Amino acid sequence: MEKLKVGIIGCGYWGPNLIRNFTACPTTEVVAVCDANPARLATIGQNHNHLKLACSLDELLELPLDAVAIATPVSTHFPIAERCLEAGLHVLVEKPLAANVHEAQALINLADHHKRVLMVDHTYLFNNAVRKIKELLEYGELGELYYIDSIRINLGLFQHDINVVWDLAPHDLSIADYVVDFEARSISAWGCSHTNRGTEDIAYVNVDYGDQMLANFHVNWLSPVKIRQMIFAGSRKSVVFNELNTTEPVKVYDRGIELGSGVEGRHKLLVGYRTGDVWSPHIEAGEALQSMVAHFAECIREGKTPLSDGRMGLRVTRLLDAANRSIRAQGGRVVLSHGANHNGNSDASAIGPLERNQDRAGRQARSRLDYSLLR
Ligand SMILES: NC(=O)c1ccc[n+]([C@@H]2O[C@H](COP(=O)([O-])OP(=O)(O)OC[C@H]3O[C@@H](n4cnc5c(N)ncnc54)[C@H](O)[C@@H]3O)[C@@H](O)[C@H]2O)c1
Repeated sequence: MEKLKVGIIGCGYWGPNLIRNFTACPTTEVVAVCDANPARLATIGQNHNHLKLACSLDELLELPLDAVAIATPVSTHFPIAERCLEAGLHVLVEKPLAANVHEAQALINLADHHKRVLMVDHTYLFNNAVRKIKELLEYGELGELYYIDSIRINLGLFQHDINVVWDLAPHDLSIADYVVDFEARSISAWGCSHTNRGTEDIAYVNVDYGDQMLANFHVNWLSPVKIRQMIFAGSRKSVVFNELNTTEPVKVYDRGIELGSGVEGRHKLLVGYRTGDVWSPHIEAGEALQSMVAHFAECIREGKTPLSDGRMGLRVTRLLDAANRSIRAQGGRVVLSHGANHNGNSDASAIGPLERNQDRAGRQARSRLDYSLLR
C-alpha cells in the first residue's frame, strides 16, 4: 500500500517533531515542508535533504500531497487550513484548532463539505498515562469524580499571538474533555500580564462541569519551577498524574473521606478519613505524538472520525474563548450554552463582578435558567 504523502507547514519549535513522527510512521511519508521564514526552511533542508522546500503555501499546494500538518502560529491556523481543505487535502492542525469559535466551526463545515479528515493535535489524548486515567474512571475505580486540579507551569516561551491560556490550557481542557463524560457548563478565569504587551502570562481557569464536578487549571509562563501535575479526585479513590515522573507518572491513592450515616450523621457533619494503599499502574511505553500521527493516517485510510476531530477542537476553542471573556470581565463567570449554538456565533455571556454584586438575586435566577436549559 502506498504511503500517504504529507506536507508539514511551519517548522519552528514544534514542526520538527511532526517531521520526525510522520517520517517514522510506516503509513506516511513527509515529501515537503513549508515555512514563511527562508532561514528556518534552509535549516530544515540541511537536516532533511530529500524533502522539497516550499517558502509559500502556493508553492506547497502545487505538489501532489494527500495531507498536511499545520504547526504555524495560532492566528494563521484558519487561513492555512481553509486553503488546504479547499485544495482537497486532509488536515491535521496543531492545538488549538483556531483563533476563535467562528473559525473553528467554519473549518468543520469545510471538512464536512469536502469529505476530508480534519483532526487537531491534542497530543495528550494519545498519552498512555492519560488513557490509563480514563480507563480507571470508566471502570469506576475512582467512584464519582469530584474535581480536577491541574498545574501546568514553567518559565515558558512567550507566544506573540496568544496568551498563556490559549498556549497551555488546550492540553488540560482536552484531557478533561476526554476523561469527563459531560460538557462544561460555565467558566471563570482570572489572568494577568506582567509585560507591556498586555498578554496574560499567568491564569487560573475554573470550570464547572455540573453535578458538583469542578476543575481548576493553573497555567503560567512565569514560574521558576516546572510542574505538570493533575489530580483527579473521586469519591472512592484519587489519581495524581505527574508527567515529569517518567517511571511512575500515575499514582492511585486509596484516600478520601467517609461521611457518617444514621440519625446522628444527619444532624452532625461526621467526616471520617480513609487512608489506604498507594499504587502505580503500569503505563505502556510509547510516544504520544507517534500514536497521534498513526491515528491521523488510519482515519484517512479507513474513513474514521478522529478522536480529536474538529468538533472536539471546537469544544476546546469555545472554552478558551469563554476564558478570555471571563478574564476581560475580571473573573466574571461565563455561562456556556451547548448545543443551542453550533453555527459558530458567540454563545457565552460574561457576568462582571460589579454587576454580580448589584444583582445577586437576578444572577442566581439567570444561572438557574441557563443551567436548566443545559440538562
Ligand atoms: N501539541 C503540542 O504539545 C504543541 C507544543 C508546542 C506547540 N504546539 C503548537 O504548534 C504551533 C506552532 O507553535 P511553535 O511553538 O512551533 O511556533 P513557532 O513560532 O516556533 O513556529 C512557527 C513557524 O511557523 C512559520 N510560519 C508562520 N506563519 C507561516 C505561514 N503563513 N506559512 C508558513 N509558515 C509560517 C514561522 O516562520 C515559524 O517557523 C502552535 O499552534 C502551537 O500551539 C503544540
